[in-house]
Amino acid sequence: MASTKAPASSGGVNGPGRAAIGVRTLREDRWWLTPLTTFVVFSAFIVYATWRAFANADYYAEPYLSPFYSPCLGDCVKGSSDFGQPLDWFPLSAALIILIFPLGFRLTCYYYRKAYYRSFWLSPPACAVAEPHTKYTGETRLPLILNNIHRYFWYAAIAVGLILTWDTLLTFQDVNGGRVGLGSLIFVVNVTFIWLYTLSCHSCRHAVGGRLRHFSEHPVRYRLWTWVSRINVHHAKFAWYSLFSVAFADLYVMLLANGTITETRFF
Ligand code: FES
Repeated sequence: MASTKAPASSGGVNGPGRAAIGVRTLREDRWWLTPLTTFVVFSAFIVYATWRAFANADYYAEPYLSPFYSPCLGDCVKGSSDFGQPLDWFPLSAALIILIFPLGFRLTCYYYRKAYYRSFWLSPPACAVAEPHTKYTGETRLPLILNNIHRYFWYAAIAVGLILTWDTLLTFQDVNGGRVGLGSLIFVVNVTFIWLYTLSCHSCRHAVGGRLRHFSEHPVRYRLWTWVSRINVHHAKFAWYSLFSVAFADLYVMLLANGTITETRFF
C-alpha cells in the first residue's frame, strides 16, 4: 500500500519538480510591508518586555499589579502578592517565574507562528515569494516541534486570564472602599482583549467542539463551538490588540510606580 506520508522536501523552491522561475517573485505589490511591519513591532515588544521582565522594579502601584508580574510569586513588594510568595527564594526577577506561560502561549500560537515564520524566518516572507532556505523540515524536530504543545499552553492561559481578571477586579477597591481610576479602565480593556485572544484560540475551538460526530447530541458544546468560531476569525486582530494592551497596562503601572504620572480618579 502506498504511503500517505508527505515526503520531506529538499531543495526548497529550487527543488526538483518546482517551476524554474528566474526571479524571487512575480508579485509587484508591496508584499514586504506586512512582514517588515510585523518584524519591527514584534522586535520592539520583545525589547520592551525583556527590559521590563528583568527590571524587577516599578511593577506595583497600589492597587495595580503589572500583568507582566502577575501572579507575583517571588520576593515581591509588599501588597503585590495575592497568592502568597511560595517562590520567595527565587534570586531573579519575579516576572521570570511566570513568563513562560504567556510567552509559550504566544510563541506556539498558530497566528503568531505564521507571523514570525514570515517576518523573522522568511519562510516564506509572503505568498508566492521564494524563501531563502534550501530545506524544509516543518515542525518535525526541535525546536519547532515544541509548537505542537500549544493546547497545553492554552490550559495555562485560561488560568492566567482568570488571575488577570482577579487583578482587574481588585483595582476597583482600595482601603476606603470602591474606586474607579484610569488604570482600572486600562486593566478592563487589557483583560477583555486577553480573554478575546485566549477564547478565540484554535485550540479552544477544538477543545469545545472538536472530535464530535453529531453536534445535535451535544447542544451545549455546539453552542460554545459556534460562539468560539465567530470570534476565531478575528484571532489575529486579538493577538495584536492584546499584545499592545498588555504592554500599555504594564507601562501605565510603571509610570505610576516610579512617580512619572499620578492616577486620574473618576470615583
Ligand atoms: Fe493563537 Fe491558540 S491559536 S492562541
